[in-house]
Amino acid sequence: MDREYLLERIFEKVDTIPPFPKTAQRALEILRSDEVDFRELEEVVKSDPGIAANFLKLVNSALYSLPQKVDSLLKAFMFLGTDQIRFILLASVAGKYFSQDLTGYGISSRDIWMHSIACGLTAEEIANTLGMSPETRESLYIASLLHDLGKIVLDLYTTLEESRFHQAMAENPDWDFMQIEWIVLGVDHGMVGGYLLKRWEFPEEIYFAVRAHHDPDLMVQKKNSAIVGLSNLIVTMLGVTGGVDAFNYRIPLQLLEIIGLEPRDVDHIMTKVLRRTLFLEGMLL
Ligand SMILES: [Fe+2]
Ligand SMILES: [Fe+2]
Repeated sequence: MDREYLLERIFEKVDTIPPFPKTAQRALEILRSDEVDFRELEEVVKSDPGIAANFLKLVNSALYSLPQKVDSLLKAFMFLGTDQIRFILLASVAGKYFSQDLTGYGISSRDIWMHSIACGLTAEEIANTLGMSPETRESLYIASLLHDLGKIVLDLYTTLEESRFHQAMAENPDWDFMQIEWIVLGVDHGMVGGYLLKRWEFPEEIYFAVRAHHDPDLMVQKKNSAIVGLSNLIVTMLGVTGGVDAFNYRIPLQLLEIIGLEPRDVDHIMTKVLRRTLFLEGMLL
């Protein structure tokens, strides 16, 4: 396919991706208030049966080992508290976007979802280590959870152009998958994901971090994007990979300096993330 024609098709495909659900946007707003109105939240979440079902499934899972089955959202909310509610809400939204296997990237829907959730957990652990504000923590969580969203747009084209991908990889063995995407498609999945989030009117700190997550020069321009980039590296090193783009296994020291972390902090964060991810994996999937 001609490159220009290909780019046009890719951006047409962007238009077909359903927007970030209004239900989740509204629920996030409610969760940001000082006194969260759980009844109002129940009304909002009920309008999305998939998300509502996830709450009940989780609260009744072995994780909480409750003596009785929780059968209402309101009870589930009161039991979980705002942090857990936000976590389940956003993880469920990500699950909707990653509901199909990404064959071009060689990853199942289950694995890309888990990779995304693990990235969100990692960013959250980093934010906790640094004592960041709840607002920053939330935007880091959203950016990390959705950092690979561009893959759902590009997947079809990485499949269609498979032979050109193989050829480009053979000719440039030192390049990472993002650089190969650039050669073959003229765009990379970070750029497409960032573009999507910008169109959905997320703040710049979120869409910029998604845009930058494979670009070492862009990533270090802002602390938030450095944290999202580091989260992606950490989960990849833990083996919770995001598919064939998971080539880079080194954490640049410069990245840690910008964020304000020591290498030993990374060890602690990795241990915590691994524990939480393994736990969640058994429960959510
Ligand atoms: Fe990525
Ligand atoms: Fe990733």
